[in-house]
Order: sequence, then C-alpha cells, then structure tokens
Amino acid sequence: MARAHNFSPGPATLPEPVLRQAAAEMLDWQGSGVGVMEMSHRGREFAQIFERTEARLRELLAVPAHFRVLFMQGGAIGENAVVPMNLIARRPARRADHVITGTWSKKTSREGERYGQVHVAASNEATRHTTLPAPSSWQLSADASYVHLCSNETIGGVEVHELPDLRALGSEAPLVIDASSHLASRPIAWDRVGLVYAGAQKNIGPAGLTLVFVRDDLLGHALPVCPSAFDYATVASNGSMFNTPPTWAIYIAGLVFEWIAQQGGIAAIEQRNVEKAALLYAAIDGSEGFYVNRVAHDCRSRMNVPFFLREDSLTPAFLDAARERGLLQLKGHKSVGGLRASLYNAMPLAGVQSLVGCMQEFAAHHG
Ligand SMILES: Cc1ncc(COP(=O)(O)O)c(C=O)c1O
Repeated sequence: MARAHNFSPGPATLPEPVLRQAAAEMLDWQGSGVGVMEMSHRGREFAQIFERTEARLRELLAVPAHFRVLFMQGGAIGENAVVPMNLIARRPARRADHVITGTWSKKTSREGERYGQVHVAASNEATRHTTLPAPSSWQLSADASYVHLCSNETIGGVEVHELPDLRALGSEAPLVIDASSHLASRPIAWDRVGLVYAGAQKNIGPAGLTLVFVRDDLLGHALPVCPSAFDYATVASNGSMFNTPPTWAIYIAGLVFEWIAQQGGIAAIEQRNVEKAALLYAAIDGSEGFYVNRVAHDCRSRMNVPFFLREDSLTPAFLDAARERGLLQLKGHKSVGGLRASLYNAMPLAGVQSLVGCMQEFAAHHG
C-alpha cells in the first residue's frame, strides 16, 4: 500500500506510526479485551489514557500550572460562541476587541456579536488579508472583556509569529487565541495569553476534539444561558468528564503527542516546520512569477501556504500532475481559488520535496 502525501487543510494527514498503532489496537487495547472506542470514559483503562494524554500535552507545550486543559467538543466555530458565553460578562460593558486577520477571525467576530458588543480593534481587510496589522496600531478598548486574535489564518495563510504583549499596549484584557491550525507546531508564550483554543483536526488528531487552555482566573464568568456542558468552570471542575468526552479522538491525540515527543518535542518539530515552509516558499519565490504567494514575507504561515499560478487556467492541469505523483488535496479554498499546501507536523520533508519537484517540472513544461 502506498500512502499519498496529503496536503489537506483539515481534517489532515496524521503520522503514519500513529495510524498503525491505532489499527493494531483497534480490537483490543493493550490486553483489555476491548477497543478504545468501546470503553467507558469512567473506566480504569480510559482514565489511564486520558491522564497520560493530558500530561504529555502539558509537558510538550510547557503549559503552566495555572492553566486548565479542557477536552471539549464543538470545534473552533463552536468556541466562537462558547468563548463569549464564558468571558463576555467579565466586564460590565460586555465588549470584546477583535483583530481581523482573515476569514476565520471575521467569522469569529460575527458570532461574537450574538453575545455582546464586538469592537474591531484592527483589520487587514484593506490588503485582502495578506498582511498583519502591527499591534501598536490596534485600537484597544479600555473596558474589553477579552481581545480575540486568530494566530494562524488557515485560508489566507498569514501567521502571527510573535504574540503581542497586551499589557505593554495598555490593555488589561486577556488575549484569546484561535490556534486551530498551528497548535503544537511551535511553542506558546503563555505569559501573553489568557485562553487558547483549537479544533483538533489539523495537528492534533481526528475532528471531534476541541482543546481549550484557560487561565484559572477566567473561570466562573459564564452567562446563565451558557449550556452546562460548555461552561468552562463546570468542565474544569469535572476534569473534562461532565459529559462524555470524545474518547477516541483523545486517544489518537495522545498517540500524536507521543509521536511529537519521539521527534524531539516541540522545538524539534518547529525546526522541521521552518525548513519545510522555507523550501516551499523558496520554490514559489524562485519561479520567476510562474507561482505567486501574495502574503507579506514577515507573516507568511508555516502551516498553510496558498499560492497561485500566473496562468490561472493551468490550475486544473497542475492538480492532475500533482495527483499523478501522489500529492493530494492541493486545491485552494473555494473563496480564494488557486492552490494551497498545508504543511502540518505530520507532513514529512519528503512530501514537500516531492511537491517542489512537481512544481519545477510543471513550470519547465508550461513556462
Ligand atoms: C483557524 C480556524 N478557525 C476555525 C476553524 C473552524 O473549525 P471547526 O470546523 O472545527 O469548527 C478552522 C477550520 O478550518 C480554522 O482553520
């Protein structure tokens, strides 16, 4: 069986050893006589899986003790409602500052309007989401309950490479980050954030699991309308077992965390991600305009690389050529067109090398 190189933006490629181990344990997890999907979430075996998974995650990302890790459901779009339901009432104005950096943060701000006032503190709309507004230019409110930022825009391909220090910008509000498409690809500056959330289906594991890292002091502010299963304080005080958590997805995430540790941890993974992204951007920039990436160099995403052929009509032929080499899911998002390669942790360097080879051959043939 030949596995393809899968450049999907998510659900996305997973490390092959993880899939092999999951397959081997599908019918009988480590002599328990049952598979993980069939276990009670309150049983001894799953408790072991859960504890190991959380411990590994905390260790890999160096999560400080004053942050809770919640294993939830509902995805990042669910969190777009769950975050305001939990945090908007922290301050009487019920206002949240939103920084717009692309499609996902725009969607987040629209959902936020259902629960309180949304103040757009900065936006990169004028550059069609190809730059990042400098934090010094953000118009922050004095009374915001939180500031929301999407730190990697999966569609536009812009990434925040250094999180802002809100206190230095004169804001006491906690920074809330949507890190869905780059969590675990790099370290997190915990002293600069109050809450981080991510859908799992890119770097972490299967869809269905949503990770939330929340600072202790942000618990306990939920609106009365907030469903109990989405009240961070309730989820935290029940160890993510207030309701049945997504057990299978948590198990796979645990295997992925073990795999990251075996690769040398987050620092080593980050280094590989830097190399993979540099290789692809160099191929695009060195193509004499045959391929184009429109994002400003200082905020190009390491994870999601949208690019275009100068001659857009050749895009279907490029996708065919790539498919023939086992390079899949390179079509750009429907809202922007062109091509997009997602280079998550589990994409090996060989996959990017193969893509670059394909691009160079295609350019030589059609240039
Ligand atoms: C940055 C970002 N935020 C939010 C979402 C939406 O996530 P979900 O489909 O898990 O709700 C995505 C999905 O691709 C994303 O990339």
